[in-house]
Amino acid sequence: MNAPNAIPTPPATSNPSSSGKPVSTGALAGGSPLSDEQQYIQHLKAQLRQSQSMATLGELTSTATHEFNNVLMTIINYARLGIRNRDDASRDKALGKILEASERASKITGTILAQARNRSESFEPTDLGGLILDTLVLLEREMNKYRVSVTTEIAPDVAPAIVSGNQIQRVMLNLLINARQAIGECGNLLIRLANSEDPQWVELVVRDSGSGIPAETLPQIFDPFFSTKMGPDESGKGGTGLGLAACKEIIDAHRGKIRVESTVGVGTAFTIRLPRA
Ligand SMILES: Nc1ncnc2c1ncn2[C@@H]1O[C@H](COP(=O)(O)OP(=O)(O)OP(=O)(O)O)[C@@H](O)[C@H]1O
Ligand SMILES: [Mg+2]
Repeated sequence: MNAPNAIPTPPATSNPSSSGKPVSTGALAGGSPLSDEQQYIQHLKAQLRQSQSMATLGELTSTATHEFNNVLMTIINYARLGIRNRDDASRDKALGKILEASERASKITGTILAQARNRSESFEPTDLGGLILDTLVLLEREMNKYRVSVTTEIAPDVAPAIVSGNQIQRVMLNLLINARQAIGECGNLLIRLANSEDPQWVELVVRDSGSGIPAETLPQIFDPFFSTKMGPDESGKGGTGLGLAACKEIIDAHRGKIRVESTVGVGTAFTIRLPRA
């Protein structure tokens, strides 16, 4: 069911310098025929993407269920309040809160349904700022729980990027969950989106104040199955070592770039460049 364990050689993405990319998805510009081995690698990569997308959907669904439950508790409590207090002011307040919570509930389910429906596996001009905010809706409770303070800086003039919204949302989720796990408890997370100086790109930065990555492991973090985690954490996330491999794979398929800078004890920043529309 899952990507088989017996993968003989890791896909070619293990070289983290994202500029030279021997293979990405389907369309091979040069048109030279693929060897059996290359075809096999392509096949494994497609499987990796598929399992990652199922895992993301599962993760999203469980996160959203918790969020949704929270929202329902708010609705129930304010409905009770409105029934108990018959004066206009209390009822207006209760109804206002119920409306607010219901709108949030509808946003949460909307995000899940969009992923499940494969809203946009095709590459099209996409508002990455909106995608960041959608993704954060799902992680709000988790970030609060671990006291991670999240700052978003979305440049007002940022151009749309030519991407698959679903795939880039997966990348964002992976990076944000990694950041949250690296922080552990209490820290800062910055998400910045802007046009890069080079007019070709839109640039997304995810910076955390977490544990950082030692220089000797940094070259391995994009390798499939490389993980320093002992298994899923108490929120049921992490530990397979496929998150960043999938991110790299997705960014390569967009002909974008991903790089990482990290200092142990200070934190880590991932910078992604995607083609501007
Ligand atoms: N923001 C970060 N700060 C510190 N270390 C990180 C960060 N992001 C990734 N890492 C390191 O890179 C490793 C690989 O990350 P990756 O997301 O691929 O796998 P994982 O998080 O261990 O498991 P999963 O496949 O469930 O995401 C992690 O185990 C961790 O050691
Ligand atoms: Mg991860």
